[in-house]
Amino acid sequence: MKDATTLARAHEDRFAARPQVYAAPGRVNLIGEHTDYAEGFVMPVAIDFATLGAISGREDGRVVVYAENFGEERSFDADALPTARSGDWSDYPLGVMRVLAGEGYAIPGLSLSLWGDVPLGSGLSSSASVEVATATAIAGLLGVAIAGPRLARLCQRAENEFVGANCGIMDQFISANGAADHALLLDCRDLSYRLAPIPETVSLVIANTMVKHSIAGGEYGTRRAEVELACRILASHRPEIRFLRDATVSDLGRWGEEIPLAARKRARHIITENTRTVEAAEALLRNDLSTVGRLMQEAHASYSQDFEASCAEADTMVELAQEIPGLIGARLTGGGFGGCTVNLVEKSLAREFAARLAEGYRSATGIRAEMHLCRASEGAHRVL
Ligand code: GLA
Repeated sequence: MKDATTLARAHEDRFAARPQVYAAPGRVNLIGEHTDYAEGFVMPVAIDFATLGAISGREDGRVVVYAENFGEERSFDADALPTARSGDWSDYPLGVMRVLAGEGYAIPGLSLSLWGDVPLGSGLSSSASVEVATATAIAGLLGVAIAGPRLARLCQRAENEFVGANCGIMDQFISANGAADHALLLDCRDLSYRLAPIPETVSLVIANTMVKHSIAGGEYGTRRAEVELACRILASHRPEIRFLRDATVSDLGRWGEEIPLAARKRARHIITENTRTVEAAEALLRNDLSTVGRLMQEAHASYSQDFEASCAEADTMVELAQEIPGLIGARLTGGGFGGCTVNLVEKSLAREFAARLAEGYRSATGIRAEMHLCRASEGAHRVL
């Protein structure tokens, strides 16, 4: 299945009701990693992989969710939705419903069919796209408008409070607010943002290392705890430092010795990454692609060496890319420890680039990587 019409037809066959259909994209992050929960800057792009949600009302007071990808259905009482996660895929849509209900949006009886092509566990934010598709579809069914930034915050809360993954705001934000042909520079402190056009001549080549990652897994949480520890120590000297967003390299120079080495390195990544991200957005806005590429390379080195969130396969994928004509910049994208690299590539060379990268990766690691040539796409919207 790949299009809204097919999903709508399957929904109608299953539930005997004509649905509205909404789409919410996955994302790739160009630069700004693990900076979101430090109230810093990120610059993601919504991609043309998405979750589609087909929704219709029902009279029997049930909430019935069908996952087309798994061929599985779950059914709940709309007035007594589960209050705790179960570890099932339905935690994502249920978490969103619980948060919406808590905000005063009474959840009616409904049928929701979900289908998506965002690769799972690959650092392309399949979970955020399910959450945002669910929230957008429910808002549509209720006939209420929820502004994109607020909708993103509610979906992030669903993931933090119900699913139990302590993620930041980036993934839900870009899924809700992305714009076709643009990257989005987000200030995670106040959720203000600017769009920066991706030039016509540039392609996004996403290279999946096929090493699985999960943000519910321990490493994400350990990194976040180290970032927060470094922040507390710096704040004991300079109370204006509420998050690492407020700290500078010179703060680290003055008080860094007091911070355990691992946490100090994590802090150095966050502080320098914030600067790089803002610079990269400015460079993209003035169409200075070589600066964007250089900053992506520096970001990868920092992510790998200071944040220690890369893995051998991702480092190999980034290194191999350097040798291939057409590359502007490459780095590991997303929560880390596997998943995908993002490559900005001259469009005329993108197919050849992807083929050569896959071939080089295969001979270096024995792994057959999946390559995707993606377009910067629109955030959540109604399709049918
Ligand atoms: C995951 C989280 C995001 C962000 C990134 C790292 O994708 O969901 O909030 O922290 O990792 O930049």
